[in-house]
Amino acid sequence: MKTVALLRSMLDELGGITDEPGRLTRTFLSPAMERAVKLAGCWMQDAGMDVRVDQAGNLIGRLEAIQVGRTGPVRRGGAGRSALPKTLILGSHLDTVRDAGKYDGALGVLLPVVALYELNSRGVKLPFHVEIVGFAEEEGVRFASAYLGSQGYTGRLKRQTLELRDADGVSVREAIERWNGLPSSRSKRVGVNTLHLKPAHRRDELLGYVEAHIEQGPVLEAEKLAVGVVSAIAGQSRYRLTWTGKAGHAGTTPMNLRRDAFAGAAEFALAAEKLAQATPGLVATVGSLAVRPGAANVIPSEAVHTLDVRQARDTARQKALFQLGRLAEKIARKRGLKVAWQRTQDNAAVNCSPQLTARLERSVNTVQGRSLRLVSGAGHDAVAMSALTPVAMLFVRCRGGLSHHPDEHVAPKDLGVALKVMVDFLERLAADAK
Ligand code: HGY
Ligand code: MN
Ligand code: MN
Repeated sequence: MKTVALLRSMLDELGGITDEPGRLTRTFLSPAMERAVKLAGCWMQDAGMDVRVDQAGNLIGRLEAIQVGRTGPVRRGGAGRSALPKTLILGSHLDTVRDAGKYDGALGVLLPVVALYELNSRGVKLPFHVEIVGFAEEEGVRFASAYLGSQGYTGRLKRQTLELRDADGVSVREAIERWNGLPSSRSKRVGVNTLHLKPAHRRDELLGYVEAHIEQGPVLEAEKLAVGVVSAIAGQSRYRLTWTGKAGHAGTTPMNLRRDAFAGAAEFALAAEKLAQATPGLVATVGSLAVRPGAANVIPSEAVHTLDVRQARDTARQKALFQLGRLAEKIARKRGLKVAWQRTQDNAAVNCSPQLTARLERSVNTVQGRSLRLVSGAGHDAVAMSALTPVAMLFVRCRGGLSHHPDEHVAPKDLGVALKVMVDFLERLAADAK
């Protein structure tokens, strides 16, 4: 299918846009994100979409419904006119983790764009509006808080999230103000909140949200399936822990008189790993760490690290967090340290819409002959979008289940299957809507 070759070349090109030469890293409202938005926006325009970027930095392509009446096809919709046709939202995130693969997020943005190329080439008219969104930040790399883009799109960016600061001390709010060329809230001049991060749609305007995404796990490969559908997305809690001890001379301070902040953090990280290894279905990760003052011959006075805890059941995740809090207290007491927790994200598990998933699964069965329903251990923008509309997800096999790694790979024939499923899903939805 020539569209697979086109999709692969688009993924390659987008995968070359990075903030860090030599590896793929694209973060919230960064210079690379600006370039990625421009490029993907051109591809959306090639599909006949009107393109805009919202205040949160989300790229939004919109194709108005075409209803074929007696006098031939007529575009329906647009603000203020009859609201008969509803909107189907497709998409995923345009940002990446550090040293990322080129499919995580990007596949979910570009697959529906190429599916529209295919439908356009067949002269298929969609009697519902389609919006494809490239969300500005899902991974939570810059601010340690995920879903900033989709929370902006659904009008659910919380005040405390807007106040989170990055490594340079810039807040989410200030980053958004800068992106939009608004006066900074830091300056005295701005008394009012100039951000208007309202929901992009009302619930009753929408048909739902469908996201294609690599599985980022080994199940489809083990089942020898190219694609599957998602039944639920695991809940996820993220914290920033700050351990405070006392700096001292590495050569003259006896071991029994030390209050080593990093040693405390390290003991906690190993204890968290041990708890997760002993608790079925629980995962706990310390993914980033900063040690201060950061000199070889100074005992660390401070260690700041992230903690990412997930479990498919919310009660099990909350219980694990309680146990980890007790463990941290015990370690801090024993070592004469202080430990402070800052929650940067907390998302309950989300069930995908059975109705929308059944529709998607109909296309998976048509194209692949059989389907598989999976729980997603990874978080996705569908979590944030589920607050606004029913969600469904198509999982695409990735080699070895590897993701968040430059070797992330999807076989061309699996891209072909995913493309056929997306085209079939849209065609059937169009047929049902008539
Ligand atoms: O962290 C995750 O689960 C996703 O990749 N953002
Ligand atoms: Mn992702
Ligand atoms: Mn990811």
